[in-house]
Amino acid sequence: MKRRNFLKGVGLAGLGATLPFSLVEVVWGLGSKPAEHESFTFAYISDSHLTHIQGARFTQNFDQGLRKAILEVNLMNPPPDFVIYGGDLAQLGKREELDHGLELLSGLKPPLKWVIGEHDFYLDMGEYWQDKISPLYYSFDHKGVHFVVLNSILTYQDWIKKWSTPMERMLNMARLDNPQGSPFMVGEAQLRWLKEDLAKYERNVPLVVLSHSPLYKIFKPWNFWTDDAEGVQKLLQRFHRVTVLHGHVHQVLYNQIGNITFYAMMATAWPWPYPVSYVQKPNQVPKLTVFMNRADPFHQRDGTGWDILDLENGTLTNHYQLWMNENRTVAFDFKLEHPVDRNYQDPEKRIPPQFHY
Ligand SMILES: [Fe+2]
Ligand SMILES: [Fe+2]
Repeated sequence: MKRRNFLKGVGLAGLGATLPFSLVEVVWGLGSKPAEHESFTFAYISDSHLTHIQGARFTQNFDQGLRKAILEVNLMNPPPDFVIYGGDLAQLGKREELDHGLELLSGLKPPLKWVIGEHDFYLDMGEYWQDKISPLYYSFDHKGVHFVVLNSILTYQDWIKKWSTPMERMLNMARLDNPQGSPFMVGEAQLRWLKEDLAKYERNVPLVVLSHSPLYKIFKPWNFWTDDAEGVQKLLQRFHRVTVLHGHVHQVLYNQIGNITFYAMMATAWPWPYPVSYVQKPNQVPKLTVFMNRADPFHQRDGTGWDILDLENGTLTNHYQLWMNENRTVAFDFKLEHPVDRNYQDPEKRIPPQFHY
């Protein structure tokens, strides 16, 4: 991936003639130091669901997914500035699983930034995570871009208290189509914190928000959903351009709501189907998204991978690295004002669905 010479070559070729240099200046125009105008790359690994069996034994397939992503990120040249781990490192929040994940990820060369997933959280309500890994929400600046990490997998206190054991709580949050489930949310305290954090920034600052669940509503029975998503979106509204990156849905998915562009990141563990094709119940899967076509739905690796992200001119180019499938590049299109799949957005160019009997 090109970084520093983006404006000279790859990027402009990719975006066509739709991106005037004046716009580049406007979007990046607030930083006074030269370093703040630099494009850069980061990587995103997510949803490894490391599963403890007994003693020192773990489900090998999930270990191998994470190992493969780490190896590939370590081979990137130039290396990414940092790697985001997008949550669901563990399957059932066990210390064995989190420790095992930390051990595997200690082999990663670039520094890590952490987002927590519900599978990491609901056994001990994030206690071990905060002790050993990371705060649950925070923000940082990198080369003129403001990054905000949210804990979007909180839920209602009544639900948290209704279980007789921590593992019962964890298992009930881990299930899809669970009538006993409860929707995710960011919560009042975090919304207050977010408002204060963002108040320090001008509207032209490129803003990247990282969450585990999507910060919009797709399908409630699977918790592809954040109950107070509109509250977060409202706080992001005054910014010129905002990018939200999330894990949790284990599939290619992207959307545009007003000034906010959303990208789902790949999982290393397994792919989820789309609610449209699986349950066929009312849902709000973005019309914009070109579905990932799984050539072999019986192969667990078909539909897993990780992402390389180029942050250029305040918007993002997402290179989906799909291990058993065509790699996909989805980037913001300045003319259309929403993300576009560079090869498959046009219905004529899509890979026709394949059927297996
Ligand atoms: Fe997950
Ligand atoms: Fe998740």
